[in-house]
Amino acid sequence: MLNPPNEIDLKTNCIIAKQRPSTPQSKHIAILGAMPQEVNKIIELMSEKEITIIADREYHSGYIGPHKATVVFSRWGKVAASSTVTTLITHFGCDCVVFTGVAGAVSDDLNIGDIVIADSTCQHDVDARPLFERFCIPLTNKSFFKPQEDLVQKALNAAKDFIASDELNHKNFHKFSIEEPRVYKGLIVTGDQFITDAASHEAIQSVPEVVMAVEMEGAAVAQVCDEHQVPYIIFRTISDKADHSANIDFIDFIEDIASQYSAGIIKYFLA
Ligand code: ADE
Repeated sequence: MLNPPNEIDLKTNCIIAKQRPSTPQSKHIAILGAMPQEVNKIIELMSEKEITIIADREYHSGYIGPHKATVVFSRWGKVAASSTVTTLITHFGCDCVVFTGVAGAVSDDLNIGDIVIADSTCQHDVDARPLFERFCIPLTNKSFFKPQEDLVQKALNAAKDFIASDELNHKNFHKFSIEEPRVYKGLIVTGDQFITDAASHEAIQSVPEVVMAVEMEGAAVAQVCDEHQVPYIIFRTISDKADHSANIDFIDFIEDIASQYSAGIIKYFLA
């Protein structure tokens, strides 16, 4: 799609470059994973692969079925994920972003092995008071970033279809006491902390909406996509209860459970 013509700002004499409108039908999908193990499983779905290295990240471009895709390990935390997604949009021209990874449960309704699709995101560690309200992202007038509803629904269906399918491998479920994984949509909050203590867990609940899960990248990716007007979706597998037991078996969980969920859900999402 051609970009609209640019205009000149008469005060500064600068060119105002107009933004591309978001396309309903993605031409180049970006897939970011929060763990290298998940990313490797997604790369296994790809054909015609090639690697581009930019700023210490390996971007794997190719096809998943008929869809052009670029897949990358986001690295951890808000700055790393923001930098990665900016490259996907501005360098690779991606016009739809999918973020997958694990999260800690904040809602008591969630169990390990459940899946949460973000229908809203918030950066729980942003506090620029008294200049801006608690949780408000400076200069955006927003505390919550919400993905397009049709993509949320599509991701919800993909996750439900995957966990109901015979492609789901239950082999290691007993190791993590997983019985029947369920799929939810709700608010995912993001901050530059791995939450393992009661005080931080409680502080997160001061976000003025019901929080489902906490992680370290999603809301940052949402903000970048929103600013570039690129549609996005964030889904997370619950790996822990964001408490003192959070780091037990973390890597095993990623390898045994989260990696197959990420690749499986992406396969159904792009089917
Ligand atoms: N990702 C997975 N578990 C998490 C936790 N407890 N805190 C932050 N990010 C996470």
